[in-house]
Amino acid sequence: MRVLVVGSGGREHALAWKIASSDAVEALHAVPGSDAMQGLATCHPDVKAMDLDAIVALARSEASDLVVVGPEDPLAAGLSDRLREAGIAVFGPSAAAAQLEASKAFAKEFMARHAIPTADFRVFEDFDAARAHVLALDGVCVVKADGLAAGKGVAVCGEPEGAVAALTEMMRDRRFGEAGARVVIEERLEGEEASYYAITDGTRVTTLAAAQDHKRALDGDRGENTGGMGAVAPAPVVTEAVEKRLLEEVVHPAIAGMVADGTPYTGVLYVGLMIDRTGAPRVVEFNVRFGDPETQPLMLGLDGDLVPLLHGAATGGLGNATPVGFRGTAVCVVLASDGYPRSYPTGRAISGLAAAADQPGVEVFHAGTRRAANGGFETAGGRVLGVTARGENIEEARRRAYAACDEIHFEGMHLRRDIAERVLAG
Ligand code: AMP
Ligand code: GLY
Repeated sequence: MRVLVVGSGGREHALAWKIASSDAVEALHAVPGSDAMQGLATCHPDVKAMDLDAIVALARSEASDLVVVGPEDPLAAGLSDRLREAGIAVFGPSAAAAQLEASKAFAKEFMARHAIPTADFRVFEDFDAARAHVLALDGVCVVKADGLAAGKGVAVCGEPEGAVAALTEMMRDRRFGEAGARVVIEERLEGEEASYYAITDGTRVTTLAAAQDHKRALDGDRGENTGGMGAVAPAPVVTEAVEKRLLEEVVHPAIAGMVADGTPYTGVLYVGLMIDRTGAPRVVEFNVRFGDPETQPLMLGLDGDLVPLLHGAATGGLGNATPVGFRGTAVCVVLASDGYPRSYPTGRAISGLAAAADQPGVEVFHAGTRRAANGGFETAGGRVLGVTARGENIEEARRRAYAACDEIHFEGMHLRRDIAERVLAG
């Protein structure tokens, strides 16, 4: 099988690493890919992930049997539709189905229509009406800009001033651009967060392990929200009993609901969850692609070939693919540039990559790096590396991941020292 991966980050590096290990794969390409992915895939740095015409042309000229789309933007822009029209199998939903992530209002209305448990919500386009609503809630709410805001555009509020300030920033100052024209105001959920991955061909579903991200920049869940500073899979909070409820109350109704609404969903449905003390799952968000950095531990721990699942989901043949289990536990620690998630320097030399990768059970996935003039790697992004380790249990996976992190150095390197610590403490 000839496979093309779309994207260039740590998630795509991990996907390419897993796909390349499949006996079914004879050629692997990536657009644009990254310098670090060169050893796994033929990269096409001139083709950007949002250049739909060029990607369709490349998939044609490379006779791709399967295109795997990493990020959400090209999906929302219709990349899957374009590839399908060209007769090319693609892992990733249509633009219509990608609304589940691209529009928070669409997602909330979808969940209400199909009785999928989520926070109570209201949608506002008028600032004064929105302000009156948050004041009525005494400011205890979550304010979200509609539309894609690069993981930002979400304010978890606890008092009136903060909630009104968040509304003003989004609706009046347009901090997130047009995404702030409509806001969703939600009930604030309490509990433990996790993400869950359902692969589907539109009707059949196979699930991967649950994962847990660490979104705040600093230890102890302090500091700003980031794209994710580390992740663990499986997430112990998703017990067998929680998983059963999750499938019955969320995953199956969502897949059936998309069919009923005339926009069948294919690809991976990422369910962002809050799980309360009674084990009741409620949906915080749907994403229409794999999580980053959750994909890094997910790919490292999967115990079997992922490619038949990806291809089955893309072609309606998921029923013929063998489900893939998970071995032990995997932990990913993100090494970031100082200043991330705001501004940060780039071009700093990275040392110790080979020594880190030599540690048992470790893979180092590159999120924001490039080849330096001397042949080594240097930093090129906010999140630089995802140092990922597998172990028999969380303790071993953590120990290995941090031992590998200690081999790596670049000026201003920032990491959290408590990834997967809370789940360990129970
Ligand atoms: P989102 O972009 O929707 O994933 O939101 C970003 C983060 O905000 C989530 O990972 C949660 O930590 C938090 N969040 C979003 N919605 C809620 C909610 N209704 N209640 C509590 N926390 C939330
Ligand atoms: N790590 C969160 C996300 O991928 O949305």
